[in-house]
Amino acid sequence: MALDLTPEQKSTGKANFEQAAGDLARGDQMNTMATGGPPDPTKRDRRDFLKAGLAAGAVVPVSAAVYFGYHEWKGNKAVRTALIGCGDEGGVLVGDHNPEFNEIVAVCDIRPTNLERIYKGEPQGPRKGLNGIYGKDSAKKIKQFETVDALLGEAKKLGIEAVIIATPLITHDAIAIECMKAGLHVLCEKLMARTIGKCKDMTQFASKTGKYKDRDGNPVLLSVGHQRHYSTLYAQALEVLNTGILGDIKHIRALWHRNNSWPFSASAADRAGFATGNDIDGKPFDLPALRDGWCKPVPAKDAEPFLKNPTLMPKDYKSVTELVRWRLYNETGGGLMAELGSHQLDAASIILGHVHPISVQGVGGKFFYGPGKNDRQSDDGVFVTYEFPGKTYYKRDTSGHLVLQGGKPVKQNEDDIVVVTYTSFNTNSFEKYGECVMGSRGTMVIEEEKDVYLFKEAEPGKAASGGRDTRVTVTGAGGGKPAMEATSTWGGGGGAQLSKSSTAPAWDSAVRGYRTEMEHFAFCLRKWQEMKQHVSYEKDEQGKLKHANIIPRCHGEVAMADAILALTANMAMNRKNPQRIKFDEAWFEVDSPEVPETKHAKA
Ligand SMILES: NC(=O)c1ccc[n+]([C@@H]2O[C@H](COP(=O)([O-])OP(=O)(O)OC[C@H]3O[C@@H](n4cnc5c(N)ncnc54)[C@H](O)[C@@H]3O)[C@@H](O)[C@H]2O)c1
Repeated sequence: MALDLTPEQKSTGKANFEQAAGDLARGDQMNTMATGGPPDPTKRDRRDFLKAGLAAGAVVPVSAAVYFGYHEWKGNKAVRTALIGCGDEGGVLVGDHNPEFNEIVAVCDIRPTNLERIYKGEPQGPRKGLNGIYGKDSAKKIKQFETVDALLGEAKKLGIEAVIIATPLITHDAIAIECMKAGLHVLCEKLMARTIGKCKDMTQFASKTGKYKDRDGNPVLLSVGHQRHYSTLYAQALEVLNTGILGDIKHIRALWHRNNSWPFSASAADRAGFATGNDIDGKPFDLPALRDGWCKPVPAKDAEPFLKNPTLMPKDYKSVTELVRWRLYNETGGGLMAELGSHQLDAASIILGHVHPISVQGVGGKFFYGPGKNDRQSDDGVFVTYEFPGKTYYKRDTSGHLVLQGGKPVKQNEDDIVVVTYTSFNTNSFEKYGECVMGSRGTMVIEEEKDVYLFKEAEPGKAASGGRDTRVTVTGAGGGKPAMEATSTWGGGGGAQLSKSSTAPAWDSAVRGYRTEMEHFAFCLRKWQEMKQHVSYEKDEQGKLKHANIIPRCHGEVAMADAILALTANMAMNRKNPQRIKFDEAWFEVDSPEVPETKHAKA
């Protein structure tokens, strides 16, 4: 993302971010409302905590629990949780979960190799496996199931209270609804569902209506796994952005590129483990021609049960190949926008204050893959442009809250637009993924979900007043309008101490957000049980949830907005009928029957 920055310039950018966050926290300019996070009662804690964190030299707060307002967990029993879907993401969630909050008591998957892998884990990386967390005989304590029905059949006996769903996109709504009907609380991976209609179904089934109850008679809870809502790094970046020190933001550039064009190779031993012969749809199993995480070889062990008895295959998939490579098919996946774009559009909409976009248009398609080259239905390149409302597009009150009329924001300056572009290509990995926020007074770059760089714009005619080598402090942080001021150029001293070394671990749970998202889910669940009443999703006059601190930050309505961003972009890029689609506010309303797919051809 920060393509042409030297290591020294990156250090300057990091130090600037830290300095600005410190100055703003010390000046009490950090704004709790801005994060959509816990309301005022915790503000004192969070501010002190930010100060303490910064004084101790940490770029990001040490305790996500304090930041997100669930530090009073002690004394609560861990939530007895089942994991449904033990593939790549299920492995990450197991590796990052905290057994004090979510005790995994059962797992479920229809692929034998992934059931094995979820216990064993992997020697490198975040997938520590259940054995790595609960001990090497974890399989004796953690029961395994091959179907969701079998799991639900024993849920009561096993005392299961909640499920984490990490299965392919096409399955999310049906599995989530089945689990909620069975009285289980649900944390479902993103993208929420394959269509917006299905997202609405899921949200309506969840606690909003209060119809389905857990075993203690409390409404079931639904959370969706867009983990950036739980990243302390994003939260802090957002707090800095919301003070206005970047000036007028007119453009956000987000991207996530990969290179999946290299030839596939595998050892003879590995090849012996891949399925051969014909799949259950009669087509031959094939090996990928190119190395690509979306187009993996089909393990013989996973094919075996379905070849013996094809009726075991859930109706969502026509073949074992489709089960393994679900991202390649339009029916089972949502392409690059659903898999990657949704995360970064989520970040852009958080940065712009959870506002809904105005329009989307773009170009995308299968430009590289084809016969003999990991062929697929899904796209391999997308370039999308969104128009979002800028700060003054809608009327705001003196505290910055949107002014609503009949529940809708009141327009004020329709020319104030922020252009958000998103690109994702499969044939070049030169740039690191991330988001670059460009303002009239400065630039913030968030890279690979782990680094933030902040730079000031240079002032005309004023040497060393900004740019890539300039360190900054924030003036006016204690009162008035905060702004960045240049202190020195690199090597000239001054500014803050650099505190996050380049040797900092690449995986930091609080920054990544997965662990925090699972912990907060458990916290909300216990709080709902304590309240013994329907937790309201009612909003105050400013459109803020009254019970915000005990509702998952990425609850159904929020996750549905992310799905609308991703799936509507796919419709706009339809090769046969490309269009500029204007977003309809009714699509974002859970109780409205309006959905984009009825008006615009499904991609
Ligand atoms: N939040 C993130 O950063 C992130 C990252 C990667 C993936 N994801 C999401 O996680 C989900 C899973 O992705 P993945 O990469 O782990 O895919 P995967 O193919 O590696 O794993 C999916 C697993 O679900 C199992 N499964 C499929 N249908 C099932 C059913 N009906 N019942 C039980 N098990 C079933 C499969 O056998 C497989 O083991 C997707 O929704 C994906 O978008 C999120």
